[in-house]
Amino acid sequence: GRVGVLMGGWSAEREVSLMSGEAVTAALQAGGVDAVAVDLRRETALDQIRDGGFDRCFLIIHGTGGEDGTLQALLDLLGMPYTGSGVLGSALGLDKLRCKQIWSSLGLPVVPGEVLDADSDFDEVVARLGLPLFVKPSEEGSSVGVTKVKRAQELPAAYAMAAAHHGKVMVEPAMAGGDYTVTVLGDEALPAIRILPATEFYDYAAKYTRDDTQYLCPCGLPDKTEQALRAMAVEAFAAVAGKDWGRVDFLLDAQGNPYVAEVNTLPGMTSHSLTPMAARAAGMDMTQLVLRILEDTLA
Ligand code: DAL
Ligand code: MG
Repeated sequence: GRVGVLMGGWSAEREVSLMSGEAVTAALQAGGVDAVAVDLRRETALDQIRDGGFDRCFLIIHGTGGEDGTLQALLDLLGMPYTGSGVLGSALGLDKLRCKQIWSSLGLPVVPGEVLDADSDFDEVVARLGLPLFVKPSEEGSSVGVTKVKRAQELPAAYAMAAAHHGKVMVEPAMAGGDYTVTVLGDEALPAIRILPATEFYDYAAKYTRDDTQYLCPCGLPDKTEQALRAMAVEAFAAVAGKDWGRVDFLLDAQGNPYVAEVNTLPGMTSHSLTPMAARAAGMDMTQLVLRILEDTLA
């Protein structure tokens, strides 16, 4: 049957989604699937979903209005099967604060931090958490609205930047042990990747436009540590009702202890993205990866 690849939408990650969606559509077509790209922002998109002759949809929208459960709810009401997490997992997954609350309650290590509001005493926050700090909106992806604060006087501007985006404003201390990520596929974790940005942090440009970000896979951790990280990823994903596929991001402290940072229920699938890279390391090309994700809609 025909598969609708739902992409684009209205979020701050629209451009990323269009890149991911193009790559997914091409990979499905290479695998012999009758895949049709649908930009959710187009006026006719909802008619196309309902009347386009699709028997399944492959969701590849990032951020609000697609990764957050709203699109999943619409498709549930239409009776249209789709890839990935359902309403609950999608809504929780895009909410970094609620994810942290759930993981903490289960005893999983989470990156420490606080919620900032307009009345927060910024000097006290710096005194409590130290510098550098990361200030981020709780409901965005791709590092949109995120600032690394190295001096206390930069905190008000960083707050204002994050507050202009979706969700609440979170502040977290920088972690010295590096950025790692694990893709979850079905009940299994793919090999971990270590990310080494050439810039101050793994920001939007480091993710999508710069060619000097380094990705290590194998990630360089001792085997036992990597296995623990992968097991933690599967547990963290299941804890927030994640289904079929997703990506769990970690930060390590100076001693090498891992902390769960966040989950992504619709991970990027661009040519620069981590999930296709992890799949490759597991011996799966992009077509095998998207066919595997698509098959899970029938399970
Ligand atoms: N939010 C981006 C697309 C990611 O996590 O890959
Ligand atoms: Mg994210």
